Amino acid sequence: MSDGMAHFDIPGAKSRELMARRQEFVARGVSSTMNVFAAKADGAMIEDVDGNRYIDFAGGIGVMNIGHARPEVTRAIAEQAANFTHTCFSVMMYESYIALAERLVHLTPGDFEKKAIFLNSGAEAVENAVKIARYATGRPAIITFDNGYHGRTLMTMTMTAKVKPYKHRFGPYAPEVYRAPFPYPYRMNMSPQDASAYCIQELERMFVGEVAPDQVAAIVIEPVQGEGGFMVAPPGFLRALKALCEQHGILFIADEIQSGFCRTGAMFAVQHDGVAPDLMIVAKSMGAGMPISGVVGRAEIMDAPPPGTLGGTYSGNPVACAAALAVLDLFEQEDYAARSREVGHVVMERFLKLQEQYALVGDVRGQGGMVAMELVKDRTTKEPDAHAASDVLAAAHRRGLVLIKAGMYDNVLRVLVPLCVTDEQLKQGLDIFEEAFASVAKAAVATTTSVS
Ligand SMILES: Cc1ncc(COP(=O)(O)O)c(C=O)c1O
Repeated sequence: MSDGMAHFDIPGAKSRELMARRQEFVARGVSSTMNVFAAKADGAMIEDVDGNRYIDFAGGIGVMNIGHARPEVTRAIAEQAANFTHTCFSVMMYESYIALAERLVHLTPGDFEKKAIFLNSGAEAVENAVKIARYATGRPAIITFDNGYHGRTLMTMTMTAKVKPYKHRFGPYAPEVYRAPFPYPYRMNMSPQDASAYCIQELERMFVGEVAPDQVAAIVIEPVQGEGGFMVAPPGFLRALKALCEQHGILFIADEIQSGFCRTGAMFAVQHDGVAPDLMIVAKSMGAGMPISGVVGRAEIMDAPPPGTLGGTYSGNPVACAAALAVLDLFEQEDYAARSREVGHVVMERFLKLQEQYALVGDVRGQGGMVAMELVKDRTTKEPDAHAASDVLAAAHRRGLVLIKAGMYDNVLRVLVPLCVTDEQLKQGLDIFEEAFASVAKAAVATTTSVS
């Protein structure tokens, strides 16, 4: 090709072979964005089994903020695995669990005594945060938000907003979950400030018309909504929410599973608004791919449930704890927050240019290195264009870019590139993005012209 960009003939032979086996033996409910299989990865690059190399703009859905295969992390994993892989912390304890709790307590915002527990997945951590909040307050209700995503277990699926594919036909859902509006200025046709004020007013209305505040254990919020489409809580919103919580004795729980660990340009996204949550939920980039999540927060709340009520066979597995400790060392040694802001700035500029050029781009938004664009068929009606988003993905994959979507309408292209990405890789990734985007946007114009 004259542009010098790779154009992979994917899936290659080995991926096709694996796909046939997958189709025979793996349940189809587990879907995959790309039709190729990984062989190895390093930094911000992934190579598939046929030798095609991709720039990774997905980071395994926001898990690889420090990048793939950092030697410090793989060494820690190997050393711990050689020592022992499991005793179950509930049977015989090990130091790494305590060391990690200590580190998280110091790392998370809040000038008060804190404690932590560890689990395996993000959803499991959300479940535990809810259990702890209910026990500590003696109240049943949980408030979550429109567009929110908290996982696929029964409680977290209930807390998640999007019906298809997450909830449809998987009910009945867990009781006592209420949903409040989240500021989404683009679709609310409001300024961020007005959207915030409206959402706080709606919550106050809910306290009269839906659930008494003295029955609400916690409000659980993603400071930047992830799967919902990268809607950023406007300045002041989290603070106003926290004040409302304090007024009613409701716990403020931040789900920082996707937004945490420097993704938004601060260690945690709540720090942009100067808020210290009562409980914070962490996962994803803390373990750089090892399955580990945690709940950390006010000691008196964390200590409310008595011994034996929390935990699990694998929770806080020693290999995963070792990986997380190595990851936290890297966060201490290198300024990933600054890098996140730099990366985000570069991506944002390119996305804004595309918005100037193409009517397909309805909105560009984000915080730090968590950036997205929302595609629409028409800027006036804002009708979502999920097809165009899928087409951009496929075109990007063929050109060597791992790219994923988000959004209530499946029409949001999001960037969760590992923050170790080099300037050159980032530029190349954005060039590919732009070319893939242009191929689809041009096609969209051509179709419209031929129809009219
Ligand atoms: C904000 C948020 N909460 C919870 C989850 C669920 O985490 P997991 O998939 O590890 O269960 C996710 C996953 O994408 C998430 O982004």
